[in-house]
Amino acid sequence: MNRNLYRWNPLLGLALAGAMVLAGCTQPAAAPTASPTSPAAAAPTAQATVATTASTTTTRQATTTGATQTSAATTGQTGAAAPSNISGKIALLLPETKTTRYETADRPYFEQKLKQLCPNCQVLYSNANQDASAQLSQVEAALANGAQVLVLDPVDSAAAATAADKAKAQGVPVIAYDRLILNSSGVNYYISFDNVRVGALQAQSLVDRLNQLGKTNPRIVMINGSPTDNNAKLFKQGAHSVFDPLVQQGKLTIAKEYDTPDWSPDQAQNEMQQALTALGNKVDGVYAANDGTAGGAIAAMTAAGLAPLPPVTGQDAELAAIQRILNGQQYMTVYKAIRPEADAAAQLAFDLLTKTTVPQSVTNGKTTNNGKIDVPSVLLTPVAVTKDNVKSTVVADNFWTVQQICTSDVAAACKAAGLQ
Ligand code: BGC
Repeated sequence: MNRNLYRWNPLLGLALAGAMVLAGCTQPAAAPTASPTSPAAAAPTAQATVATTASTTTTRQATTTGATQTSAATTGQTGAAAPSNISGKIALLLPETKTTRYETADRPYFEQKLKQLCPNCQVLYSNANQDASAQLSQVEAALANGAQVLVLDPVDSAAAATAADKAKAQGVPVIAYDRLILNSSGVNYYISFDNVRVGALQAQSLVDRLNQLGKTNPRIVMINGSPTDNNAKLFKQGAHSVFDPLVQQGKLTIAKEYDTPDWSPDQAQNEMQQALTALGNKVDGVYAANDGTAGGAIAAMTAAGLAPLPPVTGQDAELAAIQRILNGQQYMTVYKAIRPEADAAAQLAFDLLTKTTVPQSVTNGKTTNNGKIDVPSVLLTPVAVTKDNVKSTVVADNFWTVQQICTSDVAAACKAAGLQ
């Protein structure tokens, strides 16, 4: 199928991902169940609508296979019946658990997609809990365990070069998942979102909101992500590309700015507390790089008695953040459709495992320089979400259901936003 579509329309990408499941007539074994802590499964209607397209446009062809293959020909064809004669080990290594996406979306979606592509493949899963050296040990353990492909979301984008170099030395391909791995020639693919755009979306939403509120030369606090995460650098760059010209024109003041080690929400709360003390509680807006840090900043401002709360940005469309947005405690988040990201990673991992030629349309020639090489890249499109478009984004995409969002303490806000 034309997975290029993902780049332009994550919602359509999600529908198509659902269609691939339907077209394959396979029931995903590890489908995430719709619970208050896990995003909902793909909407059945979206699957049915595009099933035909998905099943007729795929052209992946297996050439040779490095995976264990017990009988004749196979194709890596998306939408075809899953080949039962391939097996292999793919390691998925995620960075942390405080941000909810990894355990509730990335991992189950990846495992589900891989199961569909390769029922006999094994996923060797690890989560590093923000510990870069633990992650290196996890990579070593995965390699020792016979992993044939690594899908690595690094805690530390620079330090992970050691892991990718080790994999390369053993002939094991590496996909940099969500975060780039810097300064290594052992990175075969990078799959993520346009992360500079994420930062720009956050900053522009905040500026627009401050204008709406009639603030002149507003004072903002910036709470950036982890200094070891290359994405955090890109979010910050995107945000500054919007803020800095306004600062130069005297139309905005960045009163305090912090980098938040480990993306820790507790640390973000401390940073916000410090800022409030230093600024005598005079803060008009908060740029928080993700929903976890937004939660920390909001907790600090609530404790300091700020009412109404100034607008706060976020990222990830975490359930708690969507609820805060509806209840008016957080202004916006950035929705990154994780299913297409995880699906594309699983498909690429399967292609690398089976040494299948990846269609040019997957990356469209796009590369990202990691300091050593140009890494072929799939970069998806992020979407800004405020109260006004919760329904047409995360709900329409079935990322969260109305039932999950609209718990009793959010019910009134849900009604007002037309969700119930
Ligand atoms: C991811 C974000 C996430 C953050 C903290 C970033 O690299 O892109 O989605 O919120 O890490 O884990």
